[in-house]
Amino acid sequence: MSSPQTIPEPPEFLGSSVRYSQSQLNLASQGGSLSSSAPISSSPSQGRMYGAEERLEPILIESSDQKSKGDFLLPAHYESCVKSILISHGQIIDRIQKLAYDIRKHYRGTTIHLLCVLKGGSAFFQDLQVCLRNFHNFTNQDYVPFTFDFIRAKSYDGTSSTGKVVVSGCDMEKLRGKDVLLVEDIVDTGTTMSMLVPLLVSHAPASVKVASLLEKRTPRSCGFKADFVGFSVPDEFVIGYCLDYNDAFRDMNHICVINDEGIEKFKDGVKQRIE
Ligand code: HPA
Ligand code: MG
Repeated sequence: MSSPQTIPEPPEFLGSSVRYSQSQLNLASQGGSLSSSAPISSSPSQGRMYGAEERLEPILIESSDQKSKGDFLLPAHYESCVKSILISHGQIIDRIQKLAYDIRKHYRGTTIHLLCVLKGGSAFFQDLQVCLRNFHNFTNQDYVPFTFDFIRAKSYDGTSSTGKVVVSGCDMEKLRGKDVLLVEDIVDTGTTMSMLVPLLVSHAPASVKVASLLEKRTPRSCGFKADFVGFSVPDEFVIGYCLDYNDAFRDMNHICVINDEGIEKFKDGVKQRIE
């Protein structure tokens, strides 16, 4: 494990994309700040872009799409803690197949480096790589060979003006020259990604893009847009399919909305023995 690195202050995202010059990125990697008021590179070959400029839009999930608990099987140890089912496991898997197809079409035979953001991104990562591996078997053109690694990223003081991201578990030097695809569970405020992407770019990969299973429609968003997104979800706290509340609910297949009992029961984390 490499030592944790921090960079301060995420960029402010105006519209859907922001470009930085390499000197701004060097500054950021040395602990300086990235700000949207600084000069912006005009040339794509000198500068880098964060946040998708053009993308296929995610499936829109409305609050009214919530299904009642009786409609699907839920783990008994969580049933009383779930308000509703927002996205069933079957829907998740079907959507990941399409995301894998879009990823394959975008990279067209280039070897990519999947960087799974732990722990929340791990279920999405597992199912995505199954789909990508299946392309290897069933086509001999334009499939996407891939390597992978894992990264931990934690943002503190989650506001866009004071936030810091601490990353660990990934040797950044190994990203040089690679087409990196971050695999994330959810872009909520976007704070973590808006700081993590510039940090990765400062280690000279060929490109950095973000695949996120979910994107939350929230007024707290900093405007960061991932490149490949499964579902756009309403401003609710969601759990399941590795998305957690204090480490609980990762072991649930469907993506659900938590209720007050769930918040109370797991406010101090998961107890190893049920009392
Ligand atoms: N659920 C779980 N983890 C999260 C969420 C959420 O809604 N938003 C950011 N991290
Ligand atoms: Mg995450």
